[in-house]
Amino acid sequence: MPSIAPPQIPAAGQAAAPAAASGPSAGELRCPPLSLYVHLPWCVRKCPYCDFNSHEQRGALPFAGYVQALVADLEHDLPLAWGRTVHSVFFGGGTPSLFPADAIDDFLQQASARLRFAPGCEITLETNPGTAEHGRFEGYLAAGVNRLSFGIQSFDDGCLQRLGRIHDSREANAAVKLAQDAGFDNINIDLMYALPGQDLAGAARDLERAFALQPAHVSHYQLTLEPNTLFAARPPDAIPDEDAAWDMQEHCQAMLATAGFDHYEVSAYARPGRQCAHNLNYWRFGDYLGIGAGAHGKISLGATQAVRRRWKLKHPTAWMSAAGTADALGGDEDVPASRLPFEYMLNALRLHEGFALADFEARTGLPRSTIQRELDEAVARGWLASDGDGDGDGERMVPTTLGRRLGNDVVSLFLP
Ligand SMILES: C[S@@+](CC[C@H](N)C(=O)[O-])C[C@H]1O[C@@H](n2cnc3c(N)ncnc32)[C@H](O)[C@@H]1O
Ligand code: SF4
Repeated sequence: MPSIAPPQIPAAGQAAAPAAASGPSAGELRCPPLSLYVHLPWCVRKCPYCDFNSHEQRGALPFAGYVQALVADLEHDLPLAWGRTVHSVFFGGGTPSLFPADAIDDFLQQASARLRFAPGCEITLETNPGTAEHGRFEGYLAAGVNRLSFGIQSFDDGCLQRLGRIHDSREANAAVKLAQDAGFDNINIDLMYALPGQDLAGAARDLERAFALQPAHVSHYQLTLEPNTLFAARPPDAIPDEDAAWDMQEHCQAMLATAGFDHYEVSAYARPGRQCAHNLNYWRFGDYLGIGAGAHGKISLGATQAVRRRWKLKHPTAWMSAAGTADALGGDEDVPASRLPFEYMLNALRLHEGFALADFEARTGLPRSTIQRELDEAVARGWLASDGDGDGDGERMVPTTLGRRLGNDVVSLFLP
């Protein structure tokens, strides 16, 4: 997430057009679906390109203590979500698959005693192929996990080595097959492209190898050199330039489309009906509790008509010793109204479906007139198009091909 800018309340005259009617309560904040994010922060080894809150494992990990701390953290956050139903759970990391199945089971049992889980609730666990063991996937399935997201990155052993991964391509294949044999049919494969030493044929081969495993979903990310990573400090040789990366992206997009994957978000591709419900809820500006070291949450508070963000201490030891108390908070703030349009667009404009203006109003608590000037400009520049009332959910704004390519510029229009 970008850093939070100081609040600036828009001038009264800025609301150019009158609010169009979208029901009796246009511009009133209404609670969207709720998700639960659970951060598990350890990895066998820190990858040199990674800026996630992940910490190299040193010695035995305190699985039971961490689960206890997660439950305490959840209880502390519960007053933000009384009476609401959880529609998805995501164990992210770090490497959640370092945790044994009984720890995941223990957490899910304790969480479901405190929160109502919707029938069919999607429960995803991020998995590193280097941690796959016989019996583990059966245990996750029995615990209630129904979706696995494999961090594979590439099926080329040279690329995997240069990325500092702990697994090779044979282990990646074997891990996915082990999970399928255990009964998982909802599997995502994470791949990165524009890797050191990779050419277009190599990026295409990675996708072919992924297709052979018949995943329900593929996430396809361009490698970025994130600040404060080893790769940023000492970039590896032979990273493809922007033109080569663009060619790879276009070629791979076409391959994914031919293979039957719908491109629904900047980097996400799904077979019909297999979009990631959890990530969709983020991108639709839904609500989520975030528990665990460094986890972020976002909750709509109907009573005060505010959108609150809350985040936890990043360091696992510091967070664990304070979990369940206010000392475990890294921060807690209501998003200034002037910033809500930008935060909404930062998410919603990642989606090819765009957003319904009625959803903008319900999820920010602001009338659509607040953004009419910016919308008009985006339409005039050919970045957004209105699809009328195509789906019966009122007027939608949909990014055009040009708007998708210039995503950052479009979102910048909505900066406070
Ligand atoms: C939260 S990470 C964790 C996945 C898991 N820990 C693993 O690496 O096996 C999710 C995905 O983000 C992608 N990712 C991480 N760092 C990236 C970077 N610097 N550039 C592009 N994609 C990145 C990778 O594809 C990764 O699998
Ligand atoms: S395994 Fe995943 S979370 Fe861990 S360091 Fe590597 S990329 Fe980051």
